Parts: sequence; structure tokens; C-alpha cells
Amino acid sequence: MAKENREEFDLRKFVPEEEQRKTFAKVFDKRTIHALHKLASRGYFDIVVHVISTGKEAHVFLARDSAGNSKAVKIYKTDTSDFNKMYEYLHGDRRFGKVKRNKRDIVFAWAKKEFSNLLLINKVGVSCPMPIAFFENVLVMEFIGIEEIASPALKEKPLENIEKVYKTEIDFLARLLFKAELVHADFSEYNILNRNGELVLIDVGQAVLTTHPEAESFFERDLNNVANYFSKKGLKKTAEEVRADVKALKEKV
Ligand SMILES: Nc1ncnc2c1ncn2[C@@H]1O[C@H](COP(=O)(O)OP(=O)(O)OP(=O)(O)O)[C@@H](O)[C@H]1O
Ligand SMILES: [Mg+2]
Repeated sequence: MAKENREEFDLRKFVPEEEQRKTFAKVFDKRTIHALHKLASRGYFDIVVHVISTGKEAHVFLARDSAGNSKAVKIYKTDTSDFNKMYEYLHGDRRFGKVKRNKRDIVFAWAKKEFSNLLLINKVGVSCPMPIAFFENVLVMEFIGIEEIASPALKEKPLENIEKVYKTEIDFLARLLFKAELVHADFSEYNILNRNGELVLIDVGQAVLTTHPEAESFFERDLNNVANYFSKKGLKKTAEEVRADVKALKEKV
């Protein structure tokens, strides 16, 4: 069988739903499809069920393994992302400082960085998806949702008890900072999912070690996001008050 036909055949098997397959073929190059096959052939999932989110830098899909378990598959785009910005986040982080400045290497390092960060974040007791595997620009992780419905972001589905949400977010920030020595760098109500009242932190590809030269300014931005969100919800906070609340947990987390 010719190579093209073989790829088409394979894609059919692994994205059975026609509309989904069309989206797939449009947005992913051959190498990305190959990376997906690689992970599928290792048993991390069997089929891609549907798209959960299509964004600027990544697409997230719901996949299912042979036992019927749901997985989230995040695929980073290799063409349209802001590679210069990504490079800055990688370069200043000693774990990824040696990355070469070309699109592919940057995106592959990014997927690996999100995997490493998820592992670290899980270890320090912050609720986030458990990472399962990565290959090139594809990351497989625990699916956050109920049945096959992905949990909404806190932005879309806020919780009533705002004090409790604040406490949880401060606990997350303190564990990240003092136990993992990480700054999330995109901490907001958009990147916290609400799984039936339980908060789950996501989107950690950009998170950097506190030794990154920009770590302090990223942290400042996170504090501002938190202060603005809670102030809008009626719990008035300044970024400095949020910082003090995080610091107060230093010996407690
Ligand atoms: N593990 C997961 N389980 C369920 N849904 C997820 C999971 N990870 C991500 N999502 C969904 O996909 C969306 C995008 O994911 P994420 O925030 O990690 O990507 P992103 O880098 O912000 O992508 P972009 O900004 O390019 O859209 C999330 O807002 C959430 O709805
Ligand atoms: Mg996001």
C-alpha cells in the first residue's frame, strides 16, 4: 500500500468520527499524526473521540483507551505559536536552558516541560491532571471531567463559597512556590477547572522554576490575576495582600 493511503487508513481507524477526522487532517501535519500513532501503539489510547478545545497554541482532545478509560490528549501546534515567547520561558529555566532555537525543538521541549511540571505539581499536593506520556508535540494526561464531559473552567462555572475558593488558590500558589519552586505564570480562573466543586489546576507548560530571571514578574502577574478575580467577586484584595497570604503559608504547606 502506498504511504499516503496507509496514513489515511490509519487515521480512519483512530479517529472514527468523520467530522473529527476532517478537523484533524486540516490542523495536523504528517509528523504530528505519526506522533499520535506512536502513543496509540504504545496503548495510551485507542481512539480520539472529539475535540475539547482549539486554541492558539494547542488543541485538546478527549481520547479513549481500549478499556474505555478517558484520556486528555494535548497537541501543541508546530506552526502558528509564538515561538519567541516560548523560547524565553524555556531558555531561562535551567531544566530546558539548552533548547535549540527552532520551531520543532521549542515545541517538543514545551510538551516535555508541561509533562515535567505536571509531575512536580502532583507531587507537592496540588490537584492537577496526572501526566501519562508525551512524544514530540503530543502530551497524554488524565482527563478532568465527569463521564466524557470535560469540566468547565472556574471562569465559566464559579463556585458559591468564594472564601473557600480563595483559600484553595492561596494553598495552590504556596505549594507551587515553596514546595515545587515553580511559578505558574498563567494562573487565572481560565486555567483552573471546576470538577463538581473540586478545583483542578491546568495549563502548566509555561510554568518556570523560581530561578528563571523573569520568575518574579510572572509571579506578580499571577498575584494580580488572583487579586482582580476575587475583587470582582466581592472579596477585595490587592496583589500585595495576596502575596502576604501566600507567604503566611510558607511553613504550613
Ligand atoms: N486534562 C484535561 N482534562 C479536561 N479538559 C482539559 C484538560 N486539559 C485541558 N483541558 C481543556 O482544554 C482547554 C485548553 O487547555 P490548556 O489551557 O491546557 O491549553 P492552552 O495552552 O490554554 O491552549 P490555548 O491557550 O492555546 O487554548 C482548557 O481550558 C480545558 O477546557
Ligand atoms: Mg489555558
